[in-house]
Amino acid sequence: MKVITCVEDLRAIARSRVPRMFYDYAESGSWTEGTFRANEADFQKILLRQRVAVNIAERSTRTRMIGVDVAMPVALAPTGLTGMQHADGEILAARAAERFGVPFTLSTMSICSIEDVAAHTKAPFWFQLYVMKDRSFIEGLIERARAAGCGALMLTLDLQILGQRHKDLKNGLSAPPKLTLANVLDLMRRPRWGLGMLGTKRRQFGNIVGHVKGVDDMSSLGAWTAQQFDPSLSWDDVEWIKKRWGGKLILKGILDVEDARLAAGCGADALVVSNHGGRQLDGAPSSISAVPGIADAVGSQIEVWMDGGIRSGQDVLKAVALGARGTLIGRAFLYGLGALGEAGVTRCLEIIHRELDLTMAFCGQTDVQKVDRRILLN
Ligand code: GLV
Repeated sequence: MKVITCVEDLRAIARSRVPRMFYDYAESGSWTEGTFRANEADFQKILLRQRVAVNIAERSTRTRMIGVDVAMPVALAPTGLTGMQHADGEILAARAAERFGVPFTLSTMSICSIEDVAAHTKAPFWFQLYVMKDRSFIEGLIERARAAGCGALMLTLDLQILGQRHKDLKNGLSAPPKLTLANVLDLMRRPRWGLGMLGTKRRQFGNIVGHVKGVDDMSSLGAWTAQQFDPSLSWDDVEWIKKRWGGKLILKGILDVEDARLAAGCGADALVVSNHGGRQLDGAPSSISAVPGIADAVGSQIEVWMDGGIRSGQDVLKAVALGARGTLIGRAFLYGLGALGEAGVTRCLEIIHRELDLTMAFCGQTDVQKVDRRILLN
């Protein structure tokens, strides 16, 4: 196999190993995918200041995110259907994160259940919550996250309704995949993935199937979202969830300064500047372009994090310089997972960490906690 030196190498391998339907699911944005592309492209427009003859012999990328010590300002984002990129995907990614010293966030729409991930890890992971119409199901999820020792609840606010992703509709996305002729032909080209799936029982939405009345076979994310996600979600619900949970709360999906003020006002511990990886409102600005305004407005009251478009340690450093105390990576770790399972997630984290460390050094910085806008040219 060729030498893997960057996240793009992992993406290329994942593309050849993961069935088309699931690779496309992770790789797509909504409608024209303009916002999805802008997330990455806008990072490229930010220029770093090179400094020389600064003593950079000792360096540290360590910091804290909501009080948790982290090896670098990066956590694994909640991503739906992770266990379809690779068999047992959530467990493998959580283990890789734990060993590396960064937090893992389990999605409500995961394949491995909360209990299953807890049984296979030691470090407390974070749980991402979607608000469903069935409030008793939400209460149940919160209790399950508490019982599993989750260290924080990450409430996603930008998916009351689902942005249309053309590829998912065309591919007939479902978990497990329906055995149509096109799918069977595609699966035959990915024997490694198929063998992994045959060797595991975790093949459907683990947090949901068996926990919601009348849902024994819940295969389609689209159908589930349309039926169950709550379009009436409001800040009163956020307050209710905050009280009910009682622990650390992270609000994800903030892109506007007004919403950031409301998030800070409700006493959450962190907010994630995010356009959901360009998967929801096509035409919204890139996440990184929204960071400075939000960090200036509320950065002294609440930890401001960001996600969307991070494919390198350089991107992490730029986000930190613009005011993000932490970042989340989604697709980057999914590429590693789809390519090489747990080892691929570890490889992704190693690559990003090394890039972050060396880029800090080139900018004359020795401590990620001291990085600010002065390392940028524009
Ligand atoms: C779910 O979070 C999705 O973006 O598909």
